[in-house]
Amino acid sequence: MKLFDAPSADGVWHRCHLLPEADPAREIRDAAVVVEHGRIAWLGAESALPAAYRSLPHHDADGAWITPGLVDCHTHLVYGGQRADEFAMRLSGAGYEEIARAGGGIVSTVRATREADEATLFAQAAARLEPLLAEGVTAIEIKSGYGLTLEAERKQLRVARQLGKAYGVSVHTTFLGAHALPPEYAGRADDYIDLVCNTMLPALAAEKLVDAVDAFCEGIGFSIAQTTRVFEAATRHGLPVKLHAEQLSNLGGAALAARYKGLSADHLEHLDEAGVAAMAEAGTVAVLLPGAYYFLRDTNLPPLALLRQYGVPMAISTDHNPGTSPTTSLLLMMNMGCTLFRMTVPEVLAGVTTHAARALGAADRHGLLAVGRAADFALWQVASSAELAYWFGRNPCAAVVRQGRVFRNGDRR
Ligand code: NIG
Ligand code: FE
Repeated sequence: MKLFDAPSADGVWHRCHLLPEADPAREIRDAAVVVEHGRIAWLGAESALPAAYRSLPHHDADGAWITPGLVDCHTHLVYGGQRADEFAMRLSGAGYEEIARAGGGIVSTVRATREADEATLFAQAAARLEPLLAEGVTAIEIKSGYGLTLEAERKQLRVARQLGKAYGVSVHTTFLGAHALPPEYAGRADDYIDLVCNTMLPALAAEKLVDAVDAFCEGIGFSIAQTTRVFEAATRHGLPVKLHAEQLSNLGGAALAARYKGLSADHLEHLDEAGVAAMAEAGTVAVLLPGAYYFLRDTNLPPLALLRQYGVPMAISTDHNPGTSPTTSLLLMMNMGCTLFRMTVPEVLAGVTTHAARALGAADRHGLLAVGRAADFALWQVASSAELAYWFGRNPCAAVVRQGRVFRNGDRR
């Protein structure tokens, strides 16, 4: 269901339990939440509901747990086609990097994305977005990076914005022009980075299509020097940066992102202690992507103990993309964060709420429930918040309130 068909959430949500932020110590049992004009006007124990609100319409939450809307802070949701054949090739022994170097991988999705028109990209991305929304996602980051020309990157970012408007979900766009070298620039990576910095970014930023800037800093992506040029260009446009860093090897990308006060460094399977220390110092969020780790059958774990020791905030995300993480379940990523990365339940809860919001530069708007904020929350038919990380392949979300509108899951499935 799209935004304007959905009923208003205004009124008193009662007969619920509340987890206003990821800390289970702050839960409120037998709670109520008052929504007025699409914003949270009051929350607390139902027994303390102020008299002024008692005559408002009531929404019976039927014993559900209410959490902040979930935040998926790293996705490549808008692209053409899929890469199941490449998955099959990898099962027969081909490596991800090998396929990329042979002109497959990201570049094959670039071909499909360039060929698709906006309506097709919208329809394909909407089909991936809807299951995420049904799991309580109310804010999502969407990257470009499968166009690699000004026109095709613009097309991806425009579709991302259209999805936000149509579904009433908060979309944060990231320009990832430096995702891969397009075939027409083979052997001329520095010339392509010129195009990214001097043509694409200025035009897309002027069109208000860019909220942040990212790059793929890797042997099969771009070097530290090239990434630095992208970050310099972002800084000239007043845009925050983030980075695909240390996924397949350690090039020092996380420390570079930290030097630019990056919102986040993402993947991080090969991150070393110097990178962790730099991130801690800069307040850069570590975005961990267990879906890509799982789907590539990676064996290098991100350095969880060091990230904890240095107090680096950790987020969890789907990294939805056709090559390394074709998942549409953020709940499954929470479960994998626990099982594969040995994260705790409070860590993965923070990882999809407060810390994920921070990775978007939107900690003031998303990730926790507080008076004055937009009514963005999810209702869960669970006995405790641990159930959000416990099930895999089952969605206990009963309803979602996004931008002050109610979306019941029965309506959508
Ligand atoms: O986040 N690592 C680079 N980008 C994506 C994969 C893109 C693809 O294979 O299409 C990622 O894993
Ligand atoms: Fe990614």
